[in-house]
Amino acid sequence: MGQALDRDDIDIYLREVGLRDGLQNISTFFPTEAKKEWIAAEAAAGVTDIEVCSFVPPKLIPQFQDALDVVATAKKISGLNICALIPNLKGAERGIEAGVDQLNYVTSVSETHNLKNVRRTPQESVENFKEIVDFRDQRAEETGKKVTLLAGCATAFGCTLEGDINPKAVISIAKQFVAAGADEISLADTVGFANPGQIKSLCRQVMDELDIPITIHLHDTRGMGVVNAYAAYDAGIRRFDGCLGGLGGCPWAPGATGNVVMEDMAFMFEGMGLRTGIDIEKLCAVRDIVTRELPDESLSGGIAKAGMPVNFAQATPLAAAAE
Ligand code: COA
Ligand code: ZN
Repeated sequence: MGQALDRDDIDIYLREVGLRDGLQNISTFFPTEAKKEWIAAEAAAGVTDIEVCSFVPPKLIPQFQDALDVVATAKKISGLNICALIPNLKGAERGIEAGVDQLNYVTSVSETHNLKNVRRTPQESVENFKEIVDFRDQRAEETGKKVTLLAGCATAFGCTLEGDINPKAVISIAKQFVAAGADEISLADTVGFANPGQIKSLCRQVMDELDIPITIHLHDTRGMGVVNAYAAYDAGIRRFDGCLGGLGGCPWAPGATGNVVMEDMAFMFEGMGLRTGIDIEKLCAVRDIVTRELPDESLSGGIAKAGMPVNFAQATPLAAAAE
């Protein structure tokens, strides 16, 4: 399990994926030192889980050519669970060699999207995952460090290329990942099609079938991001991906836009009395780094723009977030 999991002072785990999902669609190279600054600033705001890069061919996504350097620096931050996205075994080899804590292996339930994204059918991706589990286990025996494997089910709530996705197909793939050795599953609304009813229904069905942690990965493409996060919470989900300023989108999913805003989710959960471990104002201040480096990107987010309500009380004790 990653270092940040199962902490008794956190009720809701918010995982920052801005440095990966947020940057993979942006052609401007975000300078390596600024990526490190972003990671350090979020960690100082209390964020304990960060997906810091992708181990994909640098030719395909030059944004992640500095993945090794970024991971090496992130590793110096104590208590941080460092995750990286991988599309295949080669990505797993590079990620484990770099020393990440967690690998996020993404497969799209939509066959058309999976073929476009990773050039495999979903079934071929499941077979490839088995090789990754074997490799992970072998490296764990050799090094004593067991990297956790998060198996992501992309387009779980619909696909711009295929339309509806059958929940049975999502459950089937998720079960196969668990049988193969996944430590966690994530359900992704890659193109922002989902509504709260759909989120609640699929989350419940998957939770009924699986006995491992489930993360929900939401995009705010149609304005449903935060309400869908609430619906997932209501269904029993306690782990959420988000992006600072709502950056994000898959380059191979037509129409994909930004993730649910991390700051707004933190505001919602903290306001509900649920501890995220995050100091919201400090988190909002991290946006300055992104704005400085990406002046042409417009950031989303209600709480950063409007400010905190008068007398707002966080559920997370702020001294704890500052430690
Ligand atoms: N990291 C670095 N290099 C890699 C790699 C990885 N994870 N996977 C493959 N390569 C290299 C191979 O070594 C090979 O190099 P060579 O030409 O010097 O021999 C080259 O890339 C092609 O390898 P191949 O296995 O044929 O891959 P491909 O060209 O069919 O691409 C994927 C398949 C999965 C690597 C590619 O489609 C991919 O990275 N997709 C992910 C896209 C993504 O990030 N989407 C957004 C997130 S959901
Ligand atoms: Zn995404």
